[in-house]
Amino acid sequence: MKILLTGGTGYIGSHTAVELIRQGYDVEILDNLFNSKITVLDDIEKITGVKPKFYKVDLLDVPAMKKVFEEGKYDAVMHFAGLKAVGESVEKPLKYYENNVGGTINLLKCMKKYGVDKIVFSSSATVYGDQGTAELTEDMQTGVGITNPYGETKHIIEEMLIDVAEAEPKFEVTILRYFNPVGAHESGLIGEDPNDIPNNLMPIIMKVSTGEIKELCVYGDDYDTPDGTGMRDYIHVVDLAKGHVAAIEKMKPGVSIYNLGTGKATSVFEMVAAFEKASGEKLAYKVVGRRAGDLPKIFANPKKAKEELGWETELTIEDAMNDTINYLKHDAERQ
Ligand code: NAD
Ligand code: UD1
Repeated sequence: MKILLTGGTGYIGSHTAVELIRQGYDVEILDNLFNSKITVLDDIEKITGVKPKFYKVDLLDVPAMKKVFEEGKYDAVMHFAGLKAVGESVEKPLKYYENNVGGTINLLKCMKKYGVDKIVFSSSATVYGDQGTAELTEDMQTGVGITNPYGETKHIIEEMLIDVAEAEPKFEVTILRYFNPVGAHESGLIGEDPNDIPNNLMPIIMKVSTGEIKELCVYGDDYDTPDGTGMRDYIHVVDLAKGHVAAIEKMKPGVSIYNLGTGKATSVFEMVAAFEKASGEKLAYKVVGRRAGDLPKIFANPKKAKEELGWETELTIEDAMNDTINYLKHDAERQ
């Protein structure tokens, strides 16, 4: 099966490319390199022995997109490409709607024109908004209480995919709602590029450890959680990547939606402690006020993915921390 990965040189796309290639899939990558580097292709080759064919193309460039589809003759698309900086999306909402929603419309039009009817979409737990409960299941109503334009784009794209699948009975859509991806490939070659704008916990911890950021600001220690800090479901990126392989193997007509998470919630203080244990160094932090829009605790109910895809997470927070530190070491050597 030949699969086009949009955003495939990015953090999650590159790990998924590795797992797909390992399972014998024919993978090609399209990315505008806005938030990733071309050298990722060499790293994928070092890990798998295969360098995927690459198109430096923007989703908003319709003629270039058509050329890719004309040449590619794909069986399926995995759609990772998108902008993801939550803070920036509040300041520049139109940029996010244009890139994420507009880009997906162009992609779906190309898929229709060139007869590609399978798509796996990178969605996010953010679509659940505030359910008033920590454990999230796929059948919950989405789109209420989303606090930023980035999250809105994920919800709008989900709705768009549902409408397209309704209108095109041949369409096979799988929506994967990621919880909080962390960690890196065990080789240390690919991981979350610490050069992008960090607002998520793990990239900030990485930058504090390398000295680029002075200290981690812990957003509140007065939540109703055991240690007072926010709790999230952190999933190792390699487990997440394997979830995509499981998903593509079980595609079916209509829309299928799965949470990809571990089913466990970990606090900010527990994440700091795990990083300190793995690195053997203290991590500078201070407690500040709560961040607007943050929930106290959320985690996935991953039962549906286990039952229908036969997938569940295998790696731990400790694995994620060790792999992150290994990736940072490799990154420092590369500079
Ligand atoms: P990333 O930024 O590392 O990868 C996204 C890639 O898309 C980048 O390489 C970027 O250059 C490319 N891209 C962006 N706009 C493009 C365009 N118009 N045309 C072509 N390429 C474009 O991000 P990631 O963490 O790998 O995330 C992948 C997907 O998963 C995104 O859609 C993101 O919103 C979603 N997601 C990420 C997280 C997370 O915490 N990392 C959580 C939930 C969902
Ligand atoms: C955030 C976004 C969400 C997006 C997700 C993945 C907000 C309000 N939510 O979710 O829309 O889908 O990232 O991109 O931005 N934390 C700190 N200090 C920091 C950073 C984070 O204490 O400097 C805490 C947070 O309060 C939270 C936890 O760490 O409890 C995880 O934060 P983060 O990595 O930003 O992920 P989410 O809050 O889940």
